[in-house]
Amino acid sequence: MCTAIYPGSFDPPTLGHLDIIRRCSAIHDKVVVCVMRNGAKGGSLFSCAERAELLSTITADLPNVQVDTYGGLLADYARRYPDPVIVRGLRAVTDFEYEFQMANVNRKLAPEIETIFMIARDKYTFLSSSVVRELGRYRGDLGEFVPPAVEQALRIKLGARKFEDE
Ligand code: PNS
Repeated sequence: MCTAIYPGSFDPPTLGHLDIIRRCSAIHDKVVVCVMRNGAKGGSLFSCAERAELLSTITADLPNVQVDTYGGLLADYARRYPDPVIVRGLRAVTDFEYEFQMANVNRKLAPEIETIFMIARDKYTFLSSSVVRELGRYRGDLGEFVPPAVEQALRIKLGARKFEDE
């Protein structure tokens, strides 16, 4: 049974992430969305546990999707599963260099594990967690970018007043 491992920071999960998860769940037996606790990025807005909870909420209708967190190397994590493949989303050529490097490092660490890429839908090519965090801080409307549960969590995290008209 093939297991798709979809790793990331997901700080927070966006509609772009959710689209990749849905498309992935349609073509794989099992999908494990893994919040990596040691991403190279700096201070995060949501804790790992909060991000995992949000991912569980927004994927609740997908029975072959499970959510996990991990603090080690992705290659070691993926090896825990039978027939794993690592899945990453690609939005634009600007993603390519980083993804190319990461896929090759992971292949060095675990030559038996393939990384496959899913091309983001064009309506999500501009979308990233950092754009969402930025919009949230400046009271932007997030409805088109994140699922309602994530919008609510952002509102709570960043302070309800930030989302109100003055
Ligand atoms: O959503 P992101 O931030 O682009 O995801 C990057 C992530 C977390 C998947 C990547 O940083 C990662 O795999 N971190 C775990 C550590 C690891 O295995 N590093 C070796 C690959 S370069």
